[in-house]
Amino acid sequence: MMNYPIHSLCDEVCRIAITTGKYLKEQQQKIDTSSIEMKGARNYVTYVDKEAERQLVTALSQLLPEAGFLTEEATVEFVEKQYVWIIDPLDGTTNYVHKDTPYSVSIALMKERKILLGVVFDPVADELYYAVENENARLNQKPIKVSEKNMLQNGYIGFGIPYNLTAEGEKILQNALHQFKKCSFRIKGSAAIEICYVACGRSDAYFHSALSPWDVAAASFILKCAGGRCTDFSDGDNYIFGKEIVASNGYLHQELMNEIIRKQ
Ligand code: IPD
Ligand code: CA
Ligand code: CA
Repeated sequence: MMNYPIHSLCDEVCRIAITTGKYLKEQQQKIDTSSIEMKGARNYVTYVDKEAERQLVTALSQLLPEAGFLTEEATVEFVEKQYVWIIDPLDGTTNYVHKDTPYSVSIALMKERKILLGVVFDPVADELYYAVENENARLNQKPIKVSEKNMLQNGYIGFGIPYNLTAEGEKILQNALHQFKKCSFRIKGSAAIEICYVACGRSDAYFHSALSPWDVAAASFILKCAGGRCTDFSDGDNYIFGKEIVASNGYLHQELMNEIIRKQ
């Protein structure tokens, strides 16, 4: 059983995310290009991703010894347990290796397939997004909420190009192209941060196919606590494990689904 009240646990997770975020920031200027590996085309990994994950696993294991882990760099093998930490030690590695921003640390705690808390930290902007169940999401301690934009016209929409671009993924990008005259699109390169931008009202929506649970688990929870909506591409709830997400302020969700995601 978990001994911590959820708020104290969240405070500790924030502290851990900040420590690892600072490590990422310190290392970015020092990173040795010969240590950069490729997992596939355009898909980078560095010793920093691995070391950051090792730090997170060590610190979170001390916090909640009974919990398991689902992590990008597979520092520990995934075993189904009552509590599971879903972590991405460095979301935005492509930005990171090009000495660009943004990038983030992303940590979610799941209990029996339900997220209880989410923390995303951007160490360069010094922005800490977090939420616990049944409460308002916060950015640097201040409550945040989604924008009120209710149409694609003049919308500010984030998206990403998946490493494995399927025919369906390509069709969605073509549909987005047809909206270029109507709204402003942005690719920032860190799904976790881009979903948090929707949560704090900075952008109105975000979509991406072929994502993994660690890219979206914390941020989608933060967004929902900020009043937003997340679905998979079929309007269902399988957006953490289903590898596709539409994350929005809720108001323009349906129009985005009709015009970009579902349009044939
Ligand atoms: C990636 C980022 C990127 C998205 C990729 C993700 P990584 O995560 O979130 O924005 O387009 O699909 O894999 O590899 O930097 O942790
Ligand atoms: Ca990621
Ligand atoms: Ca990563």
